[in-house]
Amino acid sequence: MALTCTLAPAQIQYPQGPRKGWLLPCAAVIEEANWLTLEKDLEKPGDGFDAVICLGNSFAHLPDFKGDQSDHKLALRNIASMVRPGGVLIIDHRNYDHILATGCAPPGKNIYYKSDLTKDITTSVLLVNNKAHMVTLDYTVQVPPTEVGAAPELSKFRLSYYPHRLEAFTALLKAAFQGKCQHSVLGDFQPYTPGQAHVPCYFIHVVKKTA
Ligand SMILES: C[S@@+](CC[C@H](N)C(=O)[O-])C[C@H]1O[C@@H](n2cnc3c(N)ncnc32)[C@H](O)[C@@H]1O
Repeated sequence: MALTCTLAPAQIQYPQGPRKGWLLPCAAVIEEANWLTLEKDLEKPGDGFDAVICLGNSFAHLPDFKGDQSDHKLALRNIASMVRPGGVLIIDHRNYDHILATGCAPPGKNIYYKSDLTKDITTSVLLVNNKAHMVTLDYTVQVPPTEVGAAPELSKFRLSYYPHRLEAFTALLKAAFQGKCQHSVLGDFQPYTPGQAHVPCYFIHVVKKTA
């Protein structure tokens, strides 16, 4: 099933009205597609998209269904096929190297959400045949009160991920582009050098398709 939705500028609602500096798209087309069947679900425009962006630790939500990462490889091949030559793929994952080494998510400010509201992240690692197969993060988040004088509420939820390691995921990406790419890595959107003092919460891979 595909869901397509076209928004004209007049249809876009801003929380506090349009402000100077906000991007006002002329038209946005939102389609829904499965990474595993992307080529069937989505019509590629010409040679492909200028940029494919997959952020917020989204890709790690795809489980390793068969235990051989074949679904990860298929999904990345499909995603890479949507990038035009000269275009880029920007894709991220949490710093699972740190999580697997320490048993905890890295400390520090989260680049994607208001981490000062997060009271606790309980981390569990599932090993299958002695290999890290799944990480679950149990979040406890303090929800600010909506009414004056009301007590803040605690929200608890669990998310499960495949723990992509930096080197292994880099290799998967290069294979998906059949080596025809330039690859670089950012840590929390800053330049990243392996072994640096600051431990990034997220690794962001930037892959430029060269042919
Ligand atoms: C928990 S959400 C991440 C949310 C995102 N970081 C955000 O802040 O909105 C995981 C995302 O991965 C997407 N996703 C997971 N498996 C997918 C698949 N097989 N094909 C396409 N998208 C998928 C979901 O639709 C969802 O948008």
